[in-house]
Amino acid sequence: MVLSKALLAASRRPGLQRVVTGTPATRRVVDRFVAGETLADALTAARTLAADGISVTLDHLGEDVTSRAGAEHSRDAYLAALEGLAGLGLGDRAEVSVKLSAFGQALPDGHDTALELVRPVVEAATAAGTTVTLDMEDHRTIDSTLAALAELRKEHPGTGAVLQAMLHRTEDDAKALAVTGSRVRLVKGAYDEPATVAYQKKKDVDAAYARCLEILMAGPGYPMVGSHDPAVIQRAHELAAQQSRAADSWEVQMLYGIRPDEQRRLAAGGTRVRAYVPYGVDWYAYFVRRLAERPANVGFFVRSLITTS
Ligand code: FDA
Repeated sequence: MVLSKALLAASRRPGLQRVVTGTPATRRVVDRFVAGETLADALTAARTLAADGISVTLDHLGEDVTSRAGAEHSRDAYLAALEGLAGLGLGDRAEVSVKLSAFGQALPDGHDTALELVRPVVEAATAAGTTVTLDMEDHRTIDSTLAALAELRKEHPGTGAVLQAMLHRTEDDAKALAVTGSRVRLVKGAYDEPATVAYQKKKDVDAAYARCLEILMAGPGYPMVGSHDPAVIQRAHELAAQQSRAADSWEVQMLYGIRPDEQRRLAAGGTRVRAYVPYGVDWYAYFVRRLAERPANVGFFVRSLITTS
């Protein structure tokens, strides 16, 4: 837990970012979690996953932009991604995930800026027969992100949201979003949140996840079970059976490069599986969050630095 908090703090320190990203050996470890730096790399990953029966959601890496130009760059990158995905002909088996902080959410008037700049992306996705999911970031952004979701869903009801089980508020949010047509990815939560708003112990987060999963699986929406945890995946299957859910009425989502064999095994067995595929040059914060989730990955990273030097 201490290591995890230190890493999450490091994910927001530009000095450390320069050291880590400037180390050539880092690249090999990053490649395990990131599909590549270009859209072409991401499309290759999407094609390979599709051949194994796995859908994708592409994430153009980048967050916390500090200028309107940066936010416009995110919009343009996603428009290009949707154009590239259309060429693969995968329909809604290839969608995109966006972080509103990459669309200017933290700027003055950030809520309106992010909504203005993400709207064309959502429109392009609808036109291409697919969807956009709004990733969830730290707890101070949630009201703005859920308000943007409500606005976008008026014309694009397939727009998805993410709920983080670690937060005390999430059971209520899950009840509010367990409605017809609503796509909700339930995750444990990847940000360092204070005890005033979030459960601090893994067992409490896991219990909260189970409660929220029950709410979503019992409702008429489309639950997206975002977890690598075998207990979560098993519980999701049990609940789907209890609720007599059709196989195409929910899905499991896992991150690119994490438990890839399990992703293929589930897909081969008839579970809908979607991989979250990050790409781009701005991979530092994403990468450090993945290290924070699992101390074993830190060991892997450090060993690779030592063996290369
Ligand atoms: P948990 O961390 O308890 O791990 C269970 C098991 O999974 C581990 O024992 C290990 O076997 C495996 N595992 C987990 N993480 C691993 C790793 N990094 N490397 C290797 N093995 C690992 N968060 C957020 O705050 N906002 C968001 O929008 C999203 N979006 C998102 C999309 C998708 C598709 C996924 C899967 C996850 C997210 N997350 C997220 C991240 C999420 O909040 C959470 O931090 C991670 O999924 C890790 O939690 P698990 O549920 O996997 O379980």
